[in-house]
Amino acid sequence: MKKKIVVGISGASGMPAAWCLLRMLKEVPDVESHLVLTKAAELTIGYETEKRVEDFRALADVNYDAGEMGAAIASGSFHTDGMIIVPCSMKTIAGIAGGYTDNLLLRAADCMIKERRRLVLMVRECPFSRIHLRNMEFLAECGADIMPMMMTFYNRPESIEDMVVHVVSKALERFQIDTGRYKRWAGKKGEV
Ligand SMILES: Cc1cc2nc3c(=O)[nH]c(=O)nc-3n(C[C@H](O)[C@H](O)[C@H](O)COP(=O)(O)O)c2cc1C
Repeated sequence: MKKKIVVGISGASGMPAAWCLLRMLKEVPDVESHLVLTKAAELTIGYETEKRVEDFRALADVNYDAGEMGAAIASGSFHTDGMIIVPCSMKTIAGIAGGYTDNLLLRAADCMIKERRRLVLMVRECPFSRIHLRNMEFLAECGADIMPMMMTFYNRPESIEDMVVHVVSKALERFQIDTGRYKRWAGKKGEV
């Protein structure tokens, strides 16, 4: 059976990561992606990329509107393997932490928590305020994976794309999805 992954795109900075994730999900076999974008995400896509919202939507297997509260992913009884929100804004973090589900992305995330399914939050803000940190700590206690889009250098990235691929692949690993592009640390000699 195909894995069903819900992808949420909110209005934080990081649209190239959302694009990369959707492309990777399209390339791996046996995965069905279900996409929901917030209104703010649609704006940020325009600010951060040369792509159109429809280009993002074309990469997903199933698309939903943010106001579509009767959609399948609005119910916990619709079985999925989990959800990734990339990029995840601090407003969306606050909405999930508060159980305030006034759009479909938030409702889908709320369902992940209540059904105890995997919820990966690729958060983006800098610096984090105490409010952001408190909300993220609480969501971690609820079982979500807080995976900020952090830079890594041990993989020797040569481009921004390398960095994006690395962090997105790491998030997909949480669902046992191997993109074949994740440079794993294989160990090197050295002591401290
Ligand atoms: C270009 C741009 C970049 C933004 N980057 C961030 C960000 O990195 N983190 C964040 O929390 N909000 C960011 N925002 C603000 C959010 O878009 C805003 O809070 C919005 O209400 C989030 O709504 P949503 O969570 O429903 O998508 C950004 C907005 C714009 C226009």
